[in-house]
Amino acid sequence: MIKAKPFVKWVGGKTQLIAEVEKLLPDDFSSCKELTYIEPFVGGGAVLFWILQKYPNIVRAVINDINPDLTTAYKTIKYNSRELIEMLLKIQSEYLVLNEEKRKKYYLDKRSQFNTKELGCVENTALFIYLNRTCFNGLYRVNSKGLFNVPFGSYANPKICDEQTILADSELLQRVDILTGDFSDTINHIGKNNFFYFDPPYKPLSATSSFNSYSKEDFNDKEQVRLGEFCRRIDQLGYSFILSNSDVKGKNPQDDFFDELYEQFEIQRVFATRMVNANAEKRGKLTELLITNQSKKVKYVETI
Ligand SMILES: C[S@@+](CC[C@H](N)C(=O)[O-])C[C@H]1O[C@@H](n2cnc3c(N)ncnc32)[C@H](O)[C@@H]1O
Repeated sequence: MIKAKPFVKWVGGKTQLIAEVEKLLPDDFSSCKELTYIEPFVGGGAVLFWILQKYPNIVRAVINDINPDLTTAYKTIKYNSRELIEMLLKIQSEYLVLNEEKRKKYYLDKRSQFNTKELGCVENTALFIYLNRTCFNGLYRVNSKGLFNVPFGSYANPKICDEQTILADSELLQRVDILTGDFSDTINHIGKNNFFYFDPPYKPLSATSSFNSYSKEDFNDKEQVRLGEFCRRIDQLGYSFILSNSDVKGKNPQDDFFDELYEQFEIQRVFATRMVNANAEKRGKLTELLITNQSKKVKYVETI
């Protein structure tokens, strides 16, 4: 069976945490009628595509991200999937026949074209996906002017046009409203019964360790606190939420930043193996936080 899944590689993809997120869903999640699923930091959408396939009782979803190239891509896949596939197939056939040197030049040309920011939605999305598949490590990183600056990545046979994923995603996105902006705007798009999943940019574990530049705006501690306040508002309105973040206390036992910010909610520490370090010896198990207003229990769960 063809499955919908993320159409881009995105730092912080949540595929590895899905089983733990599922355990925290409200008991009546699958039987709840008129359920609206809201994801204010959608990124690659690993949880979105999984949850929409698994729970057909979600009548509507609302997704949001501050990155306009990303949300334009979701809209293009929703409304113009055939045109997008044609454009990606053309790029793929032009690119794959080239040798390494010519591929690099082709990549840099397309990157400059993308950075003109003067393209129509379909072309913008085709280049966004092409760059994601062929750039170094599938990163999305912009400079202070908002220009995409990831270098060329050398892959033998990158899949630039994944037609089946685009079509499966397009079908699911028909029941999704796509917003571009700040996470807090999602409150204006709620339905009758609402469930929020928050996956914000993680708080860095050290000054140099973490990648955190999806957009030219920084998601700093002040933003984390603003998100904490937003979660309390969601809770007061009677909606359920789950939020993931890094476990800064795992790195520094004195660091109570999240334990204090979310003290009224349940905080789980989940072990996840993350390929975050090129040095194999330093790639270990990191704990991540799953925070929810479902119950007050504290559990320790091991994944993988
Ligand atoms: C960790 S990623 C999400 C990962 C995603 N859930 C996945 O599985 O791939 C965080 C996202 O938040 C977005 N973002 C950063 N600041 C934001 C803000 N103030 N409001 C909404 N989105 C924001 C970034 O563009 C990025 O896509």
